[in-house]
Amino acid sequence: MRSDIQEILLDEEAIEKRVSQLGAKISEDYFGKHPILIGILKGSAVFMADLIRKITIPIEIDFLKASSYGSAAQSSGVVKLEEDLSIDVKGRNIILVEDIVDTGNTLKYLLGRFESLGATEVKVCSLLNKPARREQILSPDYIGFEIPNAFVVGYGLDYAQKYRNLPYIGILKEEIYQ
Ligand code: PRP
Ligand code: MN
Ligand code: MG
Repeated sequence: MRSDIQEILLDEEAIEKRVSQLGAKISEDYFGKHPILIGILKGSAVFMADLIRKITIPIEIDFLKASSYGSAAQSSGVVKLEEDLSIDVKGRNIILVEDIVDTGNTLKYLLGRFESLGATEVKVCSLLNKPARREQILSPDYIGFEIPNAFVVGYGLDYAQKYRNLPYIGILKEEIYQ
């Protein structure tokens, strides 16, 4: 797997340090607010697991599953909701947890949905932000790292469902997805 990676963009140490900072910031900002963190599967699974253990206030968690890339390297633009929430978000403070915001299509779709479900407030925490290919006017409220326009995998992020288990975030060699 390592031979498919052109360059390590963020190593385990850098990720751990930043995730701790995000957890501390969320703990501060949401003191007394009892937020629900909602992990957007599958990509956010690894980040979510690490992030919630760095949060020191009472929270709830839930997950939903949305996908738009399938096994392609580019967004189809059509977001498919594959599994829905299991708890009521009406009147609650929500933090959507994403691994990456790229075109913004996934987030745009989800934000509209949470609004119609009657959430009081919806904010977004994304480990990675890639503004270069944004198609929607939106930006995550909490960002781990701004990244350049490269195809990245690892720490939950996949190409054709592979590489999610890499402990770091790496740039995939172009020959792999071309
Ligand atoms: C990826 C990623 C984000 C979304 C970001 O999910 O995990 O959810 O795309 O891209 P966007 O801003 O262009 O919408 P994907 O559809 O690959 O599903 P997965 O999380 O199961 O890998
Ligand atoms: Mn995803
Ligand atoms: Mg994916």
